[in-house]
Amino acid sequence: MYTLGIETSCDETACAVLKNGNRILSNVISSSLDRHRVFGGVVPEIAARHCLEAIDVVYQEALKKARVKPCDLDLISVTQGPGLIGSIFVGVSFAKALAFALDCPLIAVHHLEAHLEANFIGRLKPSSFIGLIVSGGHTTLVRYQKWRYQVLGETVDDAIGEAYDKVARLLDLGYPGGPVIDRFARRGNPKAFEFTKPKQEGRFDFSFSGIKTAVFHLQQRGAVSLRERRTLENFCASFQETVMRWIVDKTLLACREEGIQCIVVGGGVSANSRLRALLSEEAGVRGIKVFLPPLELTTDNAVMVARLGYSLFRKGMRSDFQVAADPSLKIGGNGHGTS
Ligand code: KG4
Ligand code: ZN
Repeated sequence: MYTLGIETSCDETACAVLKNGNRILSNVISSSLDRHRVFGGVVPEIAARHCLEAIDVVYQEALKKARVKPCDLDLISVTQGPGLIGSIFVGVSFAKALAFALDCPLIAVHHLEAHLEANFIGRLKPSSFIGLIVSGGHTTLVRYQKWRYQVLGETVDDAIGEAYDKVARLLDLGYPGGPVIDRFARRGNPKAFEFTKPKQEGRFDFSFSGIKTAVFHLQQRGAVSLRERRTLENFCASFQETVMRWIVDKTLLACREEGIQCIVVGGGVSANSRLRALLSEEAGVRGIKVFLPPLELTTDNAVMVARLGYSLFRKGMRSDFQVAADPSLKIGGNGHGTS
């Protein structure tokens, strides 16, 4: 069975072909990242225009690489949301038109569920787990059981990736900030700077705006400067250790309180070296199993979308032509037009 995945929720335009839900035949991604760099963050209008320009080329390339013809496709899976309305609209419209023209089943999926599903290509999906979604737009803890997702907590302000990007911008380290800070952090002393732990209402909620403000004040006082490489490395290591400890502690707490011995991680920030090491280490001593996505599937891609569509389709779910792009799609519910 051949599944075409289409992902256009933000600045990437991606198409992938998956065979029987487990074999990646192609994984094509066109990013508009370079066009956003000068602005220090994603500009929605530029992202949507890029999706519109790239979608057909990326689709053709994905089929060519997979050596599959349009008439061979058995299922089209597309990201319905959440994300940027203009970008998602391009993917959903393209998917609907293609499904209609090819008379092929269509399924619209949730972007964050797809990030978690990236872990299950060639691996058995556990029947229950705590999902940790860490990306540029989200920091969310969910509980998965019997095919249903329930949100346990999320960020009350900035997402973790957003915090990395904003801190990197304050320090003039470029965009996106996550990979740069991660690189500097590997050589620094994580105890050099201390940050105050945030207090939020919900036990499983996160907050990163306080640490961002603390960095702003440090930078204003000249305590962190690009010119002093050692200080910068120490700062990055301290920042990274602090935020990753908060995230890992909450995730382990969720496991304990929910009585679940399995963690599944997804999203762009799941590429972070310290998060991967710390979570594996801390979960390991508690006998908790951790799923971390392969590095090439951490950032936005269409393989994860194809995989989730395939899983849901096999469970009997379908979308009709009423399905619409939904920038605020909630995790856990079926998208409008999907049953
Ligand atoms: O999931 P993603 O590709 O896009 C969204 O759906 O948001 O995540 C992008 C985010 C960016 O904020 C980027 O800075 C962050 O992931 N990121 C990282 C690392 N690699 C990417 N953050 C921390 N450490 C990394 N190694
Ligand atoms: Zn994403």
